[in-house]
Order: sequence, then structure tokens, then C-alpha cells
Amino acid sequence: MNYRHGYHAGNFADVLKHTALSELLHLLLSKDKKLFVLDTHAGTGGYDLAGKLAERTGEAAAGIVRLAATPNAGRPAAVVRYLAAVAAYDRKFGPSGGGLRRYPGSPRLIRAVLRPGDRFIACELHAEDALALRREFAGDRAVEVRQEDGYRVLKAMLPPPERRGLVLIDPPFEATDEFERLSRAVRQGLRRFATGCYAIWYPIKDEAAAAAFVATLEAPKHLVMELRVPGEAGATRLTACGLAVINPPWRFEEAMAEALPWIASVLGGKSRLVASPASAPAPASRA
Ligand SMILES: C[S@@+](CC[C@H](N)C(=O)[O-])C[C@H]1O[C@@H](n2cnc3c(N)ncnc32)[C@H](O)[C@@H]1O
Repeated sequence: MNYRHGYHAGNFADVLKHTALSELLHLLLSKDKKLFVLDTHAGTGGYDLAGKLAERTGEAAAGIVRLAATPNAGRPAAVVRYLAAVAAYDRKFGPSGGGLRRYPGSPRLIRAVLRPGDRFIACELHAEDALALRREFAGDRAVEVRQEDGYRVLKAMLPPPERRGLVLIDPPFEATDEFERLSRAVRQGLRRFATGCYAIWYPIKDEAAAAAFVATLEAPKHLVMELRVPGEAGATRLTACGLAVINPPWRFEEAMAEALPWIASVLGGKSRLVASPASAPAPASRA
């Protein structure tokens, strides 16, 4: 296990994933019912953009830093919410002498909006990162950190007694069979918990492999969002990625249809959003 998310925190892939995650949480938590959240591949929880790992790649500069530098006016609502969550996390560390310094990973974005009674499990297998994640949430009883295989925990924890749940699956794609493992996990998850909302991140290094993965999504309702940024892809440099959301909550599609092209234009890239036929926007009468 060599992957460390600290090298990539706040990059274009995080911008796509975390904007969507913030919006999913916003929509799912607007209902007055308990929610179970599982982050199968959690990372360390928070990142120092001036730290050794982030400085080595500087990836945040073409991601969150560029997004945060846009004028407030004209930002799509989902982006406003995401940037507010990022700024709130950064502020907790006090003044940083200009610019964004601390970036929240998925566990921090989730924890920031949980209500009393909601439940959150964050899995991280890498020993050092799991320790950092435990430290990040030390003394916080609302977060259950597990140093376990997230795929195994997914199988064990679904369906949740709450009957409402969000599962974020964000693997590092170090293993050559990661797409297969991912497809298997999604199938298992849906078999156990068909109504759950699943957000699944994937890299697009090999177009055919990514397309084949998307084709395996059996769920009746899903939304696929892809973001491509300029640059030459290399062994470690990623320039395209996707996020598939199964059973998206009502209004998620329209929020992302507004946010995604805007993000792509700010980052100088291109985006694509494809909805399965059953996830077409609901009629206004469902409000
Ligand atoms: C892409 S990073 C996660 C980033 C995080 N979700 C975020 O958005 O801030 C993937 C993480 O999964 C961890 N990991 C790898 N294999 C795992 C497994 N089988 N179960 C749980 N975590 C794993 C890696 O150590 C790495 O920290």
C-alpha cells in the first residue's frame, strides 16, 4: 500500500468528488430521518496543503485553490456549499497568513454536517493514515474509525438499521483488479441495501476500462459525472476521473448539472454528466 492521499488532496479529482459529496449530504440531511454514512476508504481526514506531501505535487493549485479564487457571484449553489465547508475547516486552524492551507477530506466533510443520532463509520487500512484519522477524530464519539478493509465493512454493515444510508467508495486504485473489486462491492451492497445511495469514485486512465466499469452499474437509477483537465497523463499524473452516484437523491442531478460544467470551465477542462433514464429529474409536484 503506497498510495497516500496527502499527495493529491484538493486536486481536480477531490473537487469533483467533494462537491458531489457535500451536495449529497446537504440533500440527504434535509430529511428529518436518521442517516447512516459509510466512508469505505477514508484517508486521514484532513490535509495540510503546505505540508511535505501536498507541496511535492502542488496538485491543489489546479484544483481547490483555483476554485476558491473565483468571485463569489455566479458560483453554483453546490459549489458555494462545498467552498463554505472547505473554508470552515481551514478556519478551525486559525489564520494561515493568506490563502487556503488546510483541506478537509471526505470524513471531515461528512462529520461537519452530521446531526445527533446520525451514524458514521470511516475505514482506513493504511496503518499510518489510520492512526492520523484516529487522531483527527480523537474524543469525537460521532465518528467510528476502523482500521479495516472498507469492502469488508461494507458487506458487514449493510443494510443499516436506519434504512437510509450514504456509502462513499473511494479506493486508491493501486490493485490491478480494483475495478472488479469495486463492481463486486457495488453488487453486494445493492443486494443487501437496494435503496442506499452509493457514490463511487474512479480514475480514467484507461478509457475502455472506465467505460466497462460504468456499464456494470446495474442500479436502476444512477448518474455518472466525469471531469477531464488539461495536461499530459503519466504513470502518476491523472487528468480524468469520474464519480458514479447510484440512487441519487431528488434534485442532485440538477445541482450537479449546474455545478459540473462550471467547475470544468474554471479548471480549464471538460465535463460530462450522464443520467440513467430512470433518474430523470422528478416532476415539480414531488416537492
Ligand atoms: C483516495 S484515498 C481516500 C480519500 C478520501 N476518501 C477523501 O476523499 O478525502 C484512498 C484511501 O484508501 C486507503 N485504502 C486502501 N485500501 C483500502 C481498503 N481495502 N480499505 C480501506 N482503506 C483502504 C488508502 O490508504 C487511502 O488512504
